Amino acid sequence: MILDVKHLTHGFGDRAIFHDVSFRLLKGEHIGLVGANGEGKSTFMNIVTGHLQPDEGKVTWAKNVRAGYLDQHTVLEQGMSIRDVLCSAFSFLYDMEQEMNQMFEKMGEAGEEEMDRLLDETGTIQDLLNQHDFYMIDVKVEEVARALGLQEMGLDTDVTKLSGGQRTKVLLAKLLLEKPDILLLDEPTNYLDENHIEWLKRYLLDYENAFILISHDIPFLNSVVNLIYHMENQELNRYVGNYDKFMEVYEVKKSTVGGCLQEAAEGDRGSEGFCGKK
Ligand SMILES: Nc1ncnc2c1ncn2[C@@H]1O[C@H](COP(=O)(O)OP(=O)(O)OP(=O)(O)O)[C@@H](O)[C@H]1O
Ligand SMILES: [Mg+2]
Repeated sequence: MILDVKHLTHGFGDRAIFHDVSFRLLKGEHIGLVGANGEGKSTFMNIVTGHLQPDEGKVTWAKNVRAGYLDQHTVLEQGMSIRDVLCSAFSFLYDMEQEMNQMFEKMGEAGEEEMDRLLDETGTIQDLLNQHDFYMIDVKVEEVARALGLQEMGLDTDVTKLSGGQRTKVLLAKLLLEKPDILLLDEPTNYLDENHIEWLKRYLLDYENAFILISHDIPFLNSVVNLIYHMENQELNRYVGNYDKFMEVYEVKKSTVGGCLQEAAEGDRGSEGFCGKK
């Protein structure tokens, strides 16, 4: 279990958004979060990421889970180049490298015992850096940048010179490089061209960790998700399968509910109706 949401109720003023919603996310689940405009999809993301405090309910994350969130309107800090932002995805590795270099410096004056300890510790860090492909960061950064069309602008371009769409691409690229345990993407295809969407599609399809994806792009959803959560009338319902599968089940469900209402309107015929009434 990665994320557990219990009895979530929220509204804005008179407008009720969720009523007693519960939700669980397991390791590796690829979720599509769908629903009409204004049903509360972005609000849900803001609540689970702690950007918004719900009126009622409890959000619990498993220990040490790294979540990466790309919301509809993220902003970028000033004075950094595209490359700086992308490399910051690996800041924990740069920190480790720095720590290691300081140890190397200390070695000059270290006694025998101290030397053994330093060799041991630098060895451990070196292994970790190798494990995390530290010496391949440039290659990875360039690969993702190319895939999302950032290379064309030049990676040394200051991020403040970028348009809104380009900035979103930079943030998306950074997020993908970070490979969080769970990716939270709110309409990531809005600013992407067809070939970039195609690349993102393949990327998400192969993504070994979990993600929650909000998108109005049905073919895109269909290709990458295996679970749908549908938000409607303050409820959140779970459907196994892609978007088409969800629509199939949803249509049947709707007509069944419609049938039940009709039957109720016509009066109970004393039979076992198809809504399971006795
Ligand atoms: N901070 C806020 N204050 C007041 N109302 C808000 C606030 N944020 C969202 N709302 C309202 O809550 C409802 C849900 O908004 P939300 O942005 O979560 O919808 P959504 O499902 O993401 O829609 P879309 O598909 O258009 O992005 C909308 O009616 C919106 O106007
Ligand atoms: Mg939204």
